[in-house]
Amino acid sequence: MPRETRGEAKNAHNKGPGPEHVAIIMDGNGRWAQARGLPRIMGHRAGLEAVRRTIRAAVEQGIKYLTLFAFSTENWRRPRLEVEGLFTLLKEYVEKETAELASQGVRVRFLGERNDLPAWAQAVMERCEKATASGNHLNLNIALNYGGRAEIVRAAQLLAKKVAAQALQPEDITATELAAHLYTSGMPDPDLLIRTSGELRLSNFLLWQLAYTELYVTQVLWPDFTGSDLSTALAAYRKRERRYGGIANKG
Ligand code: FPP
Repeated sequence: MPRETRGEAKNAHNKGPGPEHVAIIMDGNGRWAQARGLPRIMGHRAGLEAVRRTIRAAVEQGIKYLTLFAFSTENWRRPRLEVEGLFTLLKEYVEKETAELASQGVRVRFLGERNDLPAWAQAVMERCEKATASGNHLNLNIALNYGGRAEIVRAAQLLAKKVAAQALQPEDITATELAAHLYTSGMPDPDLLIRTSGELRLSNFLLWQLAYTELYVTQVLWPDFTGSDLSTALAAYRKRERRYGGIANKG
């Protein structure tokens, strides 16, 4: 799709085109709960409400791809109760929300190492992917048991296997070929990365895909994130000049 037609600007004062692909590091659930004297899991529960709001807003804004970082390969280091609580919440959310997502035209895909997850979790994920497969408004990627370095290592292994089987020549391994072996194969790279709660790091998220992505960090804690915060981020993005390593467009 030509860049000019992507995510058409809805407000008259918007300058550039909107992003086609938005990725979000949903941070601050724990702090949100702590500030209220609640257990951390209540922050994650409130975070799920923010996920619902954000998906609805993304559909309304005409975003084509939304990638949410739900659980990283490093999150296993958290207390067992928090990890179990998070997975229970995710299961509840996916099972309860699948029909609604399908009716909104949302196609769900899970990114990450799913073979390491319990069989019940894999089954829930597969059911959701199948039930939403015909959605064509918004592609929702949920990164679960996901790590950026592990994703690149996995792609390297897949390519090495093809070379060993003489299905591929070493010199055919290009950036395009490597990208085709990532979980995001066939999708555009994110145009905009939003991180909530003020931290300034990538946390092993989409390391390959974020090479030229515009970064937007807000102090808002994830459970407080609303459609209006998404609009603010999109407006900031539209003011950016993207150069992809080139020089400013003086024309
Ligand atoms: C970071 O906050 C958040 C997480 C590790 C989990 C995010 C998951 C959800 C909001 C549920 C997602 C569900 C779906 C279906 C996409 P934190 O606990 O690191 O917060 P802190 O930095 O304040 O401690």
